[in-house]
Amino acid sequence: MTGRLQLGPFGGGVTARREGAIIRPMPKRIRTRARTSSRSKPRKAKPALTARSADPRLLYEAAVQCPEAEIAFVNGWFRKVRQRPARRVREDFCASAKVACEFVRSHRDNTAVGLDLDAPILAWAKEHSVDALPEAARSRVTLLRRNVASPGKGADKGFDAVLAFNFSYWVFKTRATLLAYFKTVRASLAKDGIFFLDIYGGYESFTAQEERRRCKGFTYVWDQVSYDPISAAYLCRIHFEFRDGTKIRNAFEYDWRLWTIPEVRELLAEAGFKESVVHWEGDTAKGEGNGIFRPSTKGEDCASFIAYITAHK
Ligand SMILES: C[S@@+](CC[C@H](N)C(=O)[O-])C[C@H]1O[C@@H](n2cnc3c(N)ncnc32)[C@H](O)[C@@H]1O
Repeated sequence: MTGRLQLGPFGGGVTARREGAIIRPMPKRIRTRARTSSRSKPRKAKPALTARSADPRLLYEAAVQCPEAEIAFVNGWFRKVRQRPARRVREDFCASAKVACEFVRSHRDNTAVGLDLDAPILAWAKEHSVDALPEAARSRVTLLRRNVASPGKGADKGFDAVLAFNFSYWVFKTRATLLAYFKTVRASLAKDGIFFLDIYGGYESFTAQEERRRCKGFTYVWDQVSYDPISAAYLCRIHFEFRDGTKIRNAFEYDWRLWTIPEVRELLAEAGFKESVVHWEGDTAKGEGNGIFRPSTKGEDCASFIAYITAHK
């Protein structure tokens, strides 16, 4: 697999396009350089992660999310197309709501609503994402336990942008259910609102296989368990492995349909969006993905890719 794609749920940054690799770039973390002085006590080494001690939700964020890159893309593209800043965003399938919180962090007038069906992950999001924000910013994030197909009061109108990242919308496995969701998103947007979603593909994304990638203190495993070419049913799982040989198998499971770019764009048009734009990733000199996504009308026939789609109301 000349992979451009890292999977399972994802983030920005430079993407490795390397034989057999479905790898996700590590989010760029801001490293705080500790001031060293002769008097400072040697830092106590952190205990190594094990299957018993690790929190899969933290591993998921470390391995496959890069909220900084995604919010930079959202803010940049919205301002470019609408000549004004986005100020109100809805993160669908928000899970730990890291992206919604990053949007609120990016400007003091920004507000965000995170929607997820799962009460435990929303409670975790409150504790680990919202409460990690500066006090003044916390009240600008609202987490709601809602089905994105029927967002309801406080979440169904006036958004500058709605975000559906890490292919979560692939839970909708028929044209009818995905069309209904897209129509609901369009109705939730302000008159010049934009819908942001990502997508992956390439000839090897249809193949049952496991891909491993080393992360800090653990190995992330993206497992394409099965693909049915008749229904496009797509079962994927995430596993984690640790240096002490312990493993967390089936940490997350995705019962999806593998949608293609033309199918998704046709449904966005049917849902009433004026236009949709595909943002294709550029290359480094070594032929790896460079993490820079530009509007494109032609993709590349490669083993795997990740792309963004923006749908303009
Ligand atoms: C793969 S996670 C996505 C996490 C996050 N968006 C990201 O960028 O990594 C999918 C999340 O979608 C939620 N979910 C699945 N179906 C949903 C629905 N119909 N409405 C709301 N949330 C849903 C799940 O509970 C899960 O937390």
